[in-house]
Amino acid sequence: MVPELASRAHMQHIVPVVDVALKTAGCSLNDLDAIAFTRSPGLIGSLLVGTQFAKSLALALDKPLIAVHHMQAHVLANLIGDPKPAFPFLCLTVSGGHTQIVLCESPGQLTVIGETIDDAAGEAFDKTAKLLGLPYPGGPLIDKYAATGNPNRFKFPEPQIAGLDFSFSGLKTSILYFLKNAGESNIYKEEFLAGEDEQKRFIEDNLADICASVQNRIVSILLNKLRKAANQTGINQVCLSGGVSANSGLRKAFTEMGLKENWKTYIPEFQYCTDNAGMIAITAYYKFLAGDFSELNVSPTARAEW
Ligand code: KG4
Ligand code: ZN
Repeated sequence: MVPELASRAHMQHIVPVVDVALKTAGCSLNDLDAIAFTRSPGLIGSLLVGTQFAKSLALALDKPLIAVHHMQAHVLANLIGDPKPAFPFLCLTVSGGHTQIVLCESPGQLTVIGETIDDAAGEAFDKTAKLLGLPYPGGPLIDKYAATGNPNRFKFPEPQIAGLDFSFSGLKTSILYFLKNAGESNIYKEEFLAGEDEQKRFIEDNLADICASVQNRIVSILLNKLRKAANQTGINQVCLSGGVSANSGLRKAFTEMGLKENWKTYIPEFQYCTDNAGMIAITAYYKFLAGDFSELNVSPTARAEW
């Protein structure tokens, strides 16, 4: 992604998008109670466009302004549909840029209790796909090929990270050498290194099993930490969110773990799992009820702090 092009695209699209949203909702600007926008984290150029537009609207319409944190919104997407999780609940948010376990005690009280110290889960999928020669974003393709593969055929290491944090960079390295060694080993050893043709043939012949085995490991890394978080907190309302929650292996294993551990599990409708404006609106709704408004001099930030 080119940041400058992304912010120009935001400028081009923001007015038509707001028009379509109002038309689809069947209301006018004057019907709105407040104007909400994403303040952080993200690409600063794109955030600036949204922030300035929201501030101008709020000023012109004399409506309150509400700043929303993108990652908090991913968690609160679970409150859009029914049934809703009861407080307190845990949410595993897995996207292309983030992997977090969040403890949510009320709509305004969210605490990150575990997160990745390097790559996000979506990046682990996308980078694996790239090593396999698949196009970006590779997550959905790995999911597709994994459906017909054997998840136990190849073994990849589970990182030994203390507490509730995640790490995916070691897995990525082991996959890299596994492919470079045409399946002989997943560590660097001169004698295993295969030629390019052999590597390609190994991938072609074993694509489904490789995808299923990698997916199986990513899912087990995610869910083992989620189970640990549930055990530590004693919370049994557990949610999933973010684009990676589209993964069929993750959804299936999450639901099975929920049954085994006696959790009540929730996954938002898919359109509210990937980046979407509905999750910003539901977060703003709870901030509105709490009177949590922003001043017109608020500025966006690229940083992830809450
Ligand atoms: O939340 P999202 O739409 O965007 C942000 O990153 O904020 O997540 C996108 C990520 C990408 O890494 C994509 O490969 C991954 O979600 N993804 C999947 C699947 N669908 C999307 N990963 C694995 N399996 C899928 N079915
Ligand atoms: Zn996101």
